[in-house]
Amino acid sequence: MKNTLKGLGAVLCVALPFLAQVPAGAATPATRSAADQALVQRGAYLAQLGDCAACHTAPKGKPFAGGLPMSTPMGRIYVTNITPDAQTGIGGYTEADFARALREGVAKDGHNLYPAMPYPSYAKVSDDDAKALYAFFMHGVAPVQQANRESDIKWPLNMRWPLKFWNMAFLEKGAYRDKPGKDVAWNRGAYLVQGLGHCGSCHTPRGVAFQESALDESGSAFLSGALLDGWFASNLTGEHNTGLGRWSDEDLRTFLKTGANRHASAFGSMTGVINNSTQAMNDQDVAAISTYLKSLPPASGNGAAPYTYDPQATKVSLDRPAHDAGARVYTAYCMHCHGVDGRGFAPMLAPLAGNPNVLAKDASSLINVTLNGTGDLVINGMPSPFPMPGFAAVLDDQQIADVLSFVRAGWNNGAPALGVAEVAKLRQSTRAAR
Ligand code: HEC
Ligand code: HEC
Ligand code: HEC
Repeated sequence: MKNTLKGLGAVLCVALPFLAQVPAGAATPATRSAADQALVQRGAYLAQLGDCAACHTAPKGKPFAGGLPMSTPMGRIYVTNITPDAQTGIGGYTEADFARALREGVAKDGHNLYPAMPYPSYAKVSDDDAKALYAFFMHGVAPVQQANRESDIKWPLNMRWPLKFWNMAFLEKGAYRDKPGKDVAWNRGAYLVQGLGHCGSCHTPRGVAFQESALDESGSAFLSGALLDGWFASNLTGEHNTGLGRWSDEDLRTFLKTGANRHASAFGSMTGVINNSTQAMNDQDVAAISTYLKSLPPASGNGAAPYTYDPQATKVSLDRPAHDAGARVYTAYCMHCHGVDGRGFAPMLAPLAGNPNVLAKDASSLINVTLNGTGDLVINGMPSPFPMPGFAAVLDDQQIADVLSFVRAGWNNGAPALGVAEVAKLRQSTRAAR
């Protein structure tokens, strides 16, 4: 890259004396390609903000060539090839075709895309950003010939025309418009969170037709926490126990940049978001997202007082674990990483005391991470040294229910116990992932 820039500089120096002869307004080949190059680069950054790779690049697959299976309520679909290959990718798309697919969920040939492609969020993307993304996918991505795979959804559910009605009911067309009375950072944060970041596609609860029940902060359910694919995506509102109420602005920025802070660590489906998207954000964009999220009023709380740390009762059980089934499992399998004090060694090893995910009513994430461990967090190319191991082969359903009930009660966490049936259900539904 540096070399190309240097080369470009040299070309410009040679070209400059002749510039006067070029009619005003016409770009020389050199300046035009510099402008194009900058647009492609901006598009590459935007593709990271939008985390297009999370879905369009299959594990070990070629970048953006598709093929990843995704489960939907109707069956499995396969993500498509968005490299600029003319036959199998989007090489034949004009900028207008591309913008329509991105923001309205309609492919070039007119068929409606399933909303597993988060176009209800991308609808907010500005014309300028859509243009830069198009430039990146046409000129910054290598074409790959790889045919798309038919979905496993059976007739008649595989008919796509009903999606037109879905869109009429749930798609809010029109790019994000700055909210008057809010500052630049807040509006930038809102644009990123609601739009390219598509945070709500995991963090906002869904309604009966699988639609996100709110697409911005005007609905109180927005980002209030939701279960998707066996992971509970946390409450991101200002709620003080299960949300981000006890997190400072700096805590939140640290989490988005590094995947961990003094309160919690990223795991499950959030790991990919940190690996591919938020850690690549520039400081201004991370600060904007934090400003916006920190402005969301508390939602979905249970009225309990804010958490305060109290290790006393838990320490007593851990000193004499013989009579407490949960304490027994904890001392044998968890304590060397998460600590007697429940504080782990944050940010390296996640704390469990006061952790919003541990306090949340829905225990799915806790069960899932205990059964299956978590995918590696990779920050600046370095995988985390002590990722949470999976215990599916070591602990039975009863032991997992016991240890998690212990953790949820421990250190004054005050979260409800969980039953063995909940563990059995997740063991079954996440079997394929093991
Ligand atoms: C959460 C997963 C997900 C993310 C993130 C995602 N996509 Fe998609 N995208 C899909 C799926 C699934 C389809 C195919 C849907 C279908 O076949 O109905 C698709 C289809 C498309 C298509 C239509 C191409 C075709 O022939 O089907 C385009 C263009 C596209 N995506 C662009 C993007 C861009 C650009 C980004 C990033 C800004 C992005 N996508 C992010 C899941 C995703
Ligand atoms: C693919 C689904 C998915 C997407 C998209 C996603 N998240 Fe998450 N997120 C999760 C899950 C699951 C968790 C719970 C596990 C954890 O704490 O890492 C989580 C946790 C978090 C947490 C930690 C909260 C806590 O209490 O520990 C923050 C902060 C967060 N997400 C912010 C965001 C932001 C900002 C975006 C958009 C840029 C986003 N997430 C997009 C799935 C997602
Ligand atoms: C080798 C160290 C290690 C051991 C042993 C371990 N964990 Fe973990 N655990 C982690 C790390 C590290 C994380 C944060 C996610 C990551 O980076 O993989 C974590 C995350 C968690 C979380 C999610 C916390 C959050 O941030 O929201 C829970 C719940 C959890 N562990 C429970 C357990 C239980 C229960 C056991 C024992 C059965 C256990 N862990 C054993 C290292 C460990």
